[in-house]
Amino acid sequence: MMEQVVKDTVNVATAVQGTLLVLTGTLLLILLHRILTAKNWRNQSAVPGPGWWLGLGPVMSYSRFLWMGIGSACNYYNEKYGSIARVWINGEETFILSKSSAVYHVLKSSNYTGRFASKKGLQCIGMFEQGIIFNSNIALWNKVRTYFTKALTGPGLQKSVDVCVSATNKQLDVLQEFTDHSGHVDVLNLLRCIVVDVSNRLFLRIPLNEKDLLIKIHRYFSTWQTVLIQPDIFFRLNFVYKKYHLAAKELQDEMGKLVEEKRQAINNMEKLEETDFATELIFAQNHDELSADDVRQCVLEMVIAAPDTLSISLFFMLLLLKQNSVVEEQIVREIQSQIGERDVESADLQNLNVLERFIKESMRFHPVVDFIMRQALEDDSIDGYRVAKGTNLILNIGRMHKSEFFKKPNEFNLENFENTVPSRYFQPFGCGPRACVGKHIAMVMTKAILVTLLSRFTVHPRHGCSVSTIKQTNNLSMRPVEEDPDCLAMRFIPRAHNIHGEP
Ligand code: HEM
Repeated sequence: MMEQVVKDTVNVATAVQGTLLVLTGTLLLILLHRILTAKNWRNQSAVPGPGWWLGLGPVMSYSRFLWMGIGSACNYYNEKYGSIARVWINGEETFILSKSSAVYHVLKSSNYTGRFASKKGLQCIGMFEQGIIFNSNIALWNKVRTYFTKALTGPGLQKSVDVCVSATNKQLDVLQEFTDHSGHVDVLNLLRCIVVDVSNRLFLRIPLNEKDLLIKIHRYFSTWQTVLIQPDIFFRLNFVYKKYHLAAKELQDEMGKLVEEKRQAINNMEKLEETDFATELIFAQNHDELSADDVRQCVLEMVIAAPDTLSISLFFMLLLLKQNSVVEEQIVREIQSQIGERDVESADLQNLNVLERFIKESMRFHPVVDFIMRQALEDDSIDGYRVAKGTNLILNIGRMHKSEFFKKPNEFNLENFENTVPSRYFQPFGCGPRACVGKHIAMVMTKAILVTLLSRFTVHPRHGCSVSTIKQTNNLSMRPVEEDPDCLAMRFIPRAHNIHGEP
């Protein structure tokens, strides 16, 4: 009996090994074919980078991107070949730029408003010629961007401070729901709940269960990160691809339901008192300006944009604050003197200079969004190198932010923002026509949430937990590995005296 079990196990192991070998072989053959038939390999530019080596160079560089993650691979190539490097991703020539003049040229120009990614990958997550983030149908992207811009500036921006204060206080009031038996708070999920609540209150305004939605957002994000630059074969291997397809569909269906609820709510209203992002999109659909799929995808992207970037950014900031206790003291003193006992208001934000420098230095030193993906719409030249139409570009802003322009480029130090930094050296949100459309609201939200949180609590990460020691990945963005969320948890100590010095 025992022998049979051992035999069966050996057979299964051999079969699995065999399948893996066949798969790897097929993958390599397909990659090689893709690369040999790629249009532009013969016109290799003079940009430094791995050599062609009978097609091995492109296979190796693409494999490195798949294996290390996009962000880490970019750092590897810029480190090895300099601030302008050329690699191949899925057989397509791709420039990686970390030189500020080159990055700035691309950001400011309307010639680079396209993005690149695998078509099938984007179709899987609903981003192919839909939504905003990876939409490279420039006419449609332009149209939907106006809805995002309207929602994220003007009155929406004004309102966001109050909404952030209220959403932060609401979750801090039920901190025990995020606290384990040892008294540590699951801070990442706390921050995500705050941020998703803020997004809902500003853009959708439909009652929802934040925790349930966050699970779906998390799976969607993992899928996005996984499928973004995969070769077509990946999507044909149903047993591998299925789980990603389902994860993407799960969030799309949920968003479809929420948009439908919103539509019903609008229909049931006698008079529309106040409009919002989702309402404007639904009206646009009613006037045949957008399709139902466009509306659903735009709402989805608006709801995921902040939890994906802002919550992780805030998490890194809390870690950095603890590693720099003098800065925490300065920030708390500033809140005390500028705001006093009341809640933070919109007009206060411009007076919080130390906080502003802290946020900028955190985004420079340990960013969440480390790079930007673009595509050239026309032929051009960058820093003397020819760029053919269709070339992929990755702007490695994380590396650019460590340039010698800064006084202490490799240190976390507020002195780096003592003087005004010219925009070509610091671009955490990008700039120009395809910049982060949420760049203003992101700063406002970060300040409002930090002030509210730090006024009530001081946080203590676990011993030995710092931005340099926690396990992280740098694929689509820089983020902590959450396989053991316990080690990321923090103690929240109510300030013995509130920050205004009263018991
Ligand atoms: C795009 C950074 C927060 C919405 C981007 C880009 C960057 C970025 C670097 C690419 C820009 C480019 O291609 O030049 C960040 C960071 C954030 C943040 C560091 C917070 C710490 C937000 C928030 C929202 C948002 C809160 C909305 C609520 C978007 C959208 C795009 C975008 C929709 C795509 C714009 C387009 O392709 O036209 N973000 N972002 N972001 N961001 Fe943000």
